[in-house]
Amino acid sequence: MSDLQERIENIEKEFLERISSCENSSDLENIRIHYLSRNGILNSEILKNLSQLSKDDRPVIGGLANKLKKKLELLLKEKKDAFSSEIGSSKVDLDLTLPGRRSFIGKLHPLTLTMNRIKEIFVDMGFSIAEGPDIETEYYNFDSLNFPQNHPAKDMHDTFYLEDGKLLRTHTSPVQIRLMEKKKPPLRYIMPGKVYRCDSDVSHSLMFNQVEGLVIGENVNFSHLKYVLHEFARAIFHKDAEVRFRPSYFPFTEPSAEVDITCVICKGKGCRVCKNTGWIEILGAGMVDPNVFKSVGIDPEKYTGYAFGMGVERIAMLVYSIDDIRLFFENNLEFTKQFS
Ligand code: PHE
Repeated sequence: MSDLQERIENIEKEFLERISSCENSSDLENIRIHYLSRNGILNSEILKNLSQLSKDDRPVIGGLANKLKKKLELLLKEKKDAFSSEIGSSKVDLDLTLPGRRSFIGKLHPLTLTMNRIKEIFVDMGFSIAEGPDIETEYYNFDSLNFPQNHPAKDMHDTFYLEDGKLLRTHTSPVQIRLMEKKKPPLRYIMPGKVYRCDSDVSHSLMFNQVEGLVIGENVNFSHLKYVLHEFARAIFHKDAEVRFRPSYFPFTEPSAEVDITCVICKGKGCRVCKNTGWIEILGAGMVDPNVFKSVGIDPEKYTGYAFGMGVERIAMLVYSIDDIRLFFENNLEFTKQFS
């Protein structure tokens, strides 16, 4: 073995030792310069001297030297890549003052948040929760609730009828009937759910959410209803929230009222959400009509009750100052991710 051949082997050994103990990229650069630069060991000790070798030795040594050069280049590159992938280690240049990238965590939809809050307020007041089907019969949606046969709400313009004669419930009141069929009074329930009406503009959508309430007992009266709804308004809006009861009509309650709350968007001045009245109707309510009790076999001489039904979208619009109901259903992330 010639001296140069031995030297090549030693260079390789020495290089391997140095590179395996090398700890950062500036040391690595020094190693590269030491072995592979123009004046590095491989050039100055081996390649530059090839011309002085015999014709036979020259290709052998030249070949070995080039093979070593390639090998060293490859090892340097591997080590360099390893350093740059060690993110967070002090061995790489890392600007710890840069802001981090947040991972996007999903958020609850504003309607879900509002629905949860409504449930929470009533559960705190001692209400239980019940649900019923979205697809209903005329009996549950209308007849059992004392709607006369020719009531305008049964008209095709408001109700989505299905081919089998069933319909999409237009309110959550049918759940009152289903509940009273199953449970004996006293009852104190809220019944949240989706409802459907053929009506659509900035404050109406084809599908929306309601929360129905029903309280039945031996001495339940209108002042209990007023108290509970006022408490609710103060809990969900503001401790000074104002509520007004307007006489109204529903087939299933008598007397009936529509309940308004001061428009929180315009603070009562008038805007497109409150149609310039300063008030927003958030629910319908009243004392359960004796005919409804009769349709489920509850004795109207013994029991009285109140019921209410509120629109969840309306309430969410007031809570979050949103002036177009359609925003809830467009699934625009820029909109929905703002709420918590
Ligand atoms: N169901 C009525 C509606 O959708 C609201 C309501 C419920 C009114 C209960 C009175 C009592 O408009």
